[in-house]
Amino acid sequence: MYSIVVEKLGVSIGNNLVFRDLSFEYRGYGLIQVLGPNGAGKTTLLRAIAGFIKPFKGKVVINGVDVTGNPRKAGRYVGFVPQVTSLTRIEYPVTLYDLVACCYILRRRWPRINLSKKEHEYIREILFKLGIQQSKWYKKVNELSGGEKQRGYIARALVLDPPLLLLDEPFSSIDPRGRVELANMIVDLSSRKIIIVTSHDPTILLPYTNRVLLLGRNQWFYGKPEEVLSEDILHKVYGEALVKISEKHIHIYDSHV
Ligand SMILES: Nc1ncnc2c1ncn2[C@@H]1O[C@H](COP(=O)(O)OP(=O)(O)O)[C@@H](O)[C@H]1O
Ligand SMILES: [Mg+2]
Repeated sequence: MYSIVVEKLGVSIGNNLVFRDLSFEYRGYGLIQVLGPNGAGKTTLLRAIAGFIKPFKGKVVINGVDVTGNPRKAGRYVGFVPQVTSLTRIEYPVTLYDLVACCYILRRRWPRINLSKKEHEYIREILFKLGIQQSKWYKKVNELSGGEKQRGYIARALVLDPPLLLLDEPFSSIDPRGRVELANMIVDLSSRKIIIVTSHDPTILLPYTNRVLLLGRNQWFYGKPEEVLSEDILHKVYGEALVKISEKHIHIYDSHV
């Protein structure tokens, strides 16, 4: 069984307080959606959980290990998939296959440059599972579409089979058909990992969501979806005009760039 405990976490970027005293915990396997308006701190929270940001207070404990502000330690438990757009470029020219394979090499205890046959097979299996066409595997990442890059980053995050997978706006650069495929994949993974997904549109994953963390600019709410996504709380976070709730859908008219 896996666990994540975030305790009284406080993060500022420069002079900007993003959140303070943010606490939530989850044990077992499942899916947590982090929702909230643009600028509320969703990306910052994922980066803090992955250890990339040092909080000014509080801690992040994964599977009983304090990983606060320590990307190396956190990296043993966390796969982080950054938000990708068609404009996202990486600084070095690398093929999709090598992007995935590199992570394998860098993270292991005794780095060897060559992968074994078994390791290559494992990478191929992940790429196939993610529905990445073989014709794209040896293309430079910078030449791929937003959706293809997104899948590449997910493949990279999955290589070491981390207990906790963080996905920042994974649907933002994926077309509608791809969205359903990606949603199915996330749901499947959530039966054996803890998955934390940030999103602007909670609807597609809502029936499979175990917990919602709704981040507002000065407040947050955490609980089961039906507890958090009440009209009352949504209006507190988004304002009256921005939310319309119908039987099955929550429409959030929040401008986002
Ligand atoms: N690199 C940065 N430099 C300065 N401010 C930042 C940086 N990244 C995020 N912020 C600020 O932190 C707050 C939270 O941003 P972010 O976590 O990206 O929100 P979200 O992902 O919910 O849209 C915002 O006010 C944003 O302006
Ligand atoms: Mg963000």
